[in-house]
Amino acid sequence: MRLTLTLAIGLLFSGSALAAGDPAHGHQLAQQWCASCHVVDQDQATASADVASFYTIAKSENLTPDGLSAFLADPHPVMPNMSLSRGEIADLVAYIVSLREK
Ligand code: HEC
Repeated sequence: MRLTLTLAIGLLFSGSALAAGDPAHGHQLAQQWCASCHVVDQDQATASADVASFYTIAKSENLTPDGLSAFLADPHPVMPNMSLSRGEIADLVAYIVSLREK
């Protein structure tokens, strides 16, 4: 019983921040949730002037997938009532990281 529990907890944690997300779904989520403030892709012409675009964020030297996941799990104060699931966070992180190459 104890072993099963330990295994289950291990799976839970190993599946969180490091889970490979789906960048295409992350792109959709970004358009839905983030585009009112951030420029999230090349088709988008306008967003809030003071907010970093996802390209800038993606190219930031300090950016790590883990750091980004942690940041999104605890949304920034200005963001309205947004609670993302772990899967959504993984997808968004995968999308933002994919912008690095662009
Ligand atoms: C209501 C406007 C708003 C929305 C919506 C919003 N953001 Fe932000 N975001 C900001 C502002 C303003 C900042 C900079 C200030 C701060 O960090 O609190 C920021 C900062 C960030 C940063 C850190 C940038 C850096 O240089 O450190 C990330 C990453 C980020 N947002 C991701 C997202 C993602 C992903 C979404 C959608 C799920 C999102 N934001 C939706 C306004 C918003």
